[in-house]
Amino acid sequence: MRYIQVQPAGALRGAVTVPGSKNSSLALIAASCLADDTVRLEGVPEIDDMRQIEGIARDIGLGIRRSADGETVLDPRYIHSATIDPGKASAYRASYYFAGALLAKFGRVTIGFPGGDDFKSRPIDQHVKAFQALGAKVTFYDDYYVVEAAQLQGADIYFDTITCGATINAMLAAVRARGRTTLYNAAVDPEVVDTAALLSQFGARIYGAGTDCIRIEGVPYLNGGAHTAIPDRLVAGTFLIAAGVAGGQVTVKDVIPEHLGSCIAKLKEVGLELDVGDQSITAYGTGTIKATRIRTAMYPGFATDLQQPMTALLLGAKGKSIVTDKIFPHRFAHVPQLRRLGADIEVRGESAFIRGGRPLAGDLVHATDVRAGIALVLAGTVAEGITRITGVEHVERGYPDIIRSLNSLGANVSLRESGADEGMFGAG
Ligand code: EPU
Repeated sequence: MRYIQVQPAGALRGAVTVPGSKNSSLALIAASCLADDTVRLEGVPEIDDMRQIEGIARDIGLGIRRSADGETVLDPRYIHSATIDPGKASAYRASYYFAGALLAKFGRVTIGFPGGDDFKSRPIDQHVKAFQALGAKVTFYDDYYVVEAAQLQGADIYFDTITCGATINAMLAAVRARGRTTLYNAAVDPEVVDTAALLSQFGARIYGAGTDCIRIEGVPYLNGGAHTAIPDRLVAGTFLIAAGVAGGQVTVKDVIPEHLGSCIAKLKEVGLELDVGDQSITAYGTGTIKATRIRTAMYPGFATDLQQPMTALLLGAKGKSIVTDKIFPHRFAHVPQLRRLGADIEVRGESAFIRGGRPLAGDLVHATDVRAGIALVLAGTVAEGITRITGVEHVERGYPDIIRSLNSLGANVSLRESGADEGMFGAG
């Protein structure tokens, strides 16, 4: 079994280049199916979800080629099927974007339910509501659903809750619909804007992406094009937090600082110093972390994805902190694992209550989702002794090359394998 081993190695020091956004890339690839010519994407990260996508692409006839220099070339001209194997769709979350894109292009899609990180409840009712508003019929079966429409028709759609996924999916479905679609209470996340930018380059007519009201005038044909995915704000935020956890100084390069506004403000609030440049940010750990209260919110609020790594930081704060997750109220699988390392932290309702300042000691812990995993890695950098983290595949889903990047900053992290005959973690 693979595991990540972390040992404390003092303060971090150095710079990392941030990869393209995972969550944006997953939308951009599905959006590329809508084009009628080839699409070249820069910045798609080397993550496991890409393997799932390549499997889906093979099945439906979407050409996909990754070149050595990191470019992803997609050829949607020969897509011959809009049926996606339920197992493959359920292997990651963002497979649901193929529903919007293939529905728009072919008028029918059969697809399995989305998988991905398990936060107990991750409904897709707003995606379904949007498809239905555009005139599609949605039929549910045990492990898949079918969305079909003879002709999608533009509509006014009001989202009952702000959702990045459903906003993007509605946009995908609407770009080739007949007439005007208006999305009200839309998500304003950078990933929405990035997807709209790609589609607009193909010739889609999308106005207002990045505001809570997006207007789409349907077009019958879309060109191909070239596009670079935005930098991953969640990876960038994690490295900035790491400077606070371990101390030292970490620069993230090739970022869009505006996408990290709430993270930067919160890190300053708890005592880090930050230098914000045009495309880079440097965080300086000052050695003192102040307790705080965090409530996650949709962008531009404090990202749910960063509350878990931030919790690792607040373990080092003097006093009591409270982290409340309003977006995914059950996103606390990291808490029992952090307790194994000695953290004084408990979950009540949708909040984690943290008494900082307790010394941490390495142990064997398990990552059950991507950000829980990185929170454990960060905690391991200051836990005395050796921390071993299983569930490596979760960490790899969101952090390409994390081991090399952390070690380049001076951390002591390695990917290891416990041999079957050595017993659990018998190997050194
Ligand atoms: N929601 C509904 N109904 C829906 C869709 C969403 O009630 O039909 C709710 C969710 O339960 C949640 C809120 O709306 O409370 C926001 O959900 P959203 O649709 O924005 O989330 P998502 O599409 O399921 C994406 C990212 C997550 C990230 C959230 C933050 C991808 C593949 N996933 O999930 O990323 O946490 O947005 O909004 O883009 C991660 O990268 O670690 C990760 C989990």
